[in-house]
Amino acid sequence: MNISIAKGIGAFREAAAWKIAAQMTSKPDSVIGLSTGRTTGEIHRMVTGIHDRLSFDTSRLTIFGLDEVTGVDKHYSGACWEMLWTEIVSGLGIGEDNFIMLPTESDDWDKACRDFTTELQARGGIDLLILGIGENAHLGFNQPGTSWNKETCLGYMCEDLESRIRRETGTPDDKHLGGVTLGIAGIMKARRIILLANGANKAEAVRNAIEGPVTADVPASVLQLHPDCEFILDEEAAGLLSNCHLT
Ligand code: GLP
Repeated sequence: MNISIAKGIGAFREAAAWKIAAQMTSKPDSVIGLSTGRTTGEIHRMVTGIHDRLSFDTSRLTIFGLDEVTGVDKHYSGACWEMLWTEIVSGLGIGEDNFIMLPTESDDWDKACRDFTTELQARGGIDLLILGIGENAHLGFNQPGTSWNKETCLGYMCEDLESRIRRETGTPDDKHLGGVTLGIAGIMKARRIILLANGANKAEAVRNAIEGPVTADVPASVLQLHPDCEFILDEEAAGLLSNCHLT
């Protein structure tokens, strides 16, 4: 596992954005998975800015989302579809044919999950997967304790996120809100993984993922078993690593 620690949030975001852009230019038909949230939004906009300056070819790229919120409209501002579309996909000039997302609604989730897995395989598998990490070390909607043998599966969201989405969308209490996600087995199939974390609130999850035991209680600890995984951190997120001495 490679660990890069950036000095400050600007350098952290820039390092991540250039790694994503470099994947796009070095393999123009890459299949790249992205994660949404506070960590990645600005990074996505930076990738679009790099593309504006260098205008590299994006016509053969596939972008897909690691996960999706269920029970909302895909155009709701908190849906992963809408976030990825507005932050990066449309700015790169990528059309909906090459933007692969799990649905926000389905009558048959087993089929929806199978279709997603099949589509990624048909496109040659995942070249680069960008992950965020939850404060409880979740990856996507793979929460602590969930099985590691699923390629794509339904998951659930933490209470904070669920109540925020419920409030913002006016979703009644009796309507289920949840998440659907690339599972841990699907994540581990990616040829290359970069996990991004910034801020002191992620420090414990980062330490447990890198230095703790490999256990389903810490989903991100599975990455210790991946042959090509890099953590890009800012100094705060790296603050609890035992061999990281901050000056
Ligand atoms: C969310 C998403 C993940 C994301 C993670 C971190 O729940 N399901 O895909 O990577 O949690 O989010 P943030 O960057 O906002 O901390």
